[in-house]
Amino acid sequence: MSNKEYPIGIFDSGIGGLTVLKEICRILPDENILYFGDTARVPYGIRSEETVTKYSFECIKFLLQKRIKLLVIACNTVSAVSLKEITKYVDVPVIGVIEPGAKAAVNFTKNKKIGVIGTEATIKAKAYSKAIKELSDKVEVYELACPLFVPLVEEGWTDDLVAKLIAERYLSNLRVKEIDTIVLGCTHYPLLKKVIGEVMGPINIVDSAIETSKIVREILLQKDLLNNQKNTPVRKYYVTDSPIKFKFLAEKFLNESINNIEKVMLS
Ligand code: DGL
Repeated sequence: MSNKEYPIGIFDSGIGGLTVLKEICRILPDENILYFGDTARVPYGIRSEETVTKYSFECIKFLLQKRIKLLVIACNTVSAVSLKEITKYVDVPVIGVIEPGAKAAVNFTKNKKIGVIGTEATIKAKAYSKAIKELSDKVEVYELACPLFVPLVEEGWTDDLVAKLIAERYLSNLRVKEIDTIVLGCTHYPLLKKVIGEVMGPINIVDSAIETSKIVREILLQKDLLNNQKNTPVRKYYVTDSPIKFKFLAEKFLNESINNIEKVMLS
């Protein structure tokens, strides 16, 4: 097997990183993929930096044993809190979701006012603000944690009155800032895109999953690592809790049926 055929590793705290997997599969359909979701310990977004980093390293060590050619940190919380340390430790290219989202937001905004929504840990780390300011110090950034969005999506309530009311309650705080661009800084939020658009009115919505998949393609191309084999690609899912529960939710996220799910015990 050549390096090009090695899989892309995708790590997330649970199920949400499937939004990133979906985009990667859409633009890179020939790539083999290993997905790791720490479903036994999700959510990470309410935990301390120390715990997020500790959990992340345990999962990433497992993925690295599988000879991946590139590692995607699909989880915004992990990207915000632990990416630097992970990058130092890992000897394959590592791509987080913050920088791609920040870059797209800076390109989109005309009035230089950007909103960012995410988990409590992501917002507390101010990773999006820092990444955006590094690209342009003229931009004002308003960050807001929306902790109820994750359970809402996992419950499947993405397009009903409850979703609308909760979105209204949170996002009215951003609407008054007159932002023209909003970054969906959490794996689950792309599933709420419609409701967020309705509540915010005409605005640029940056989906970090889409932006990250473009960077993945760019890096593979640059490093001459794109898989040019036309065999049916392997998609394998590792989880730390029940594969049955994962399958049920994953199929809702991906809108297709999946197999090849294995429960792993982390040492
Ligand atoms: N994957 C997380 C993120 O993107 C959301 C779920 C969690 O809190 O672990 O921040």
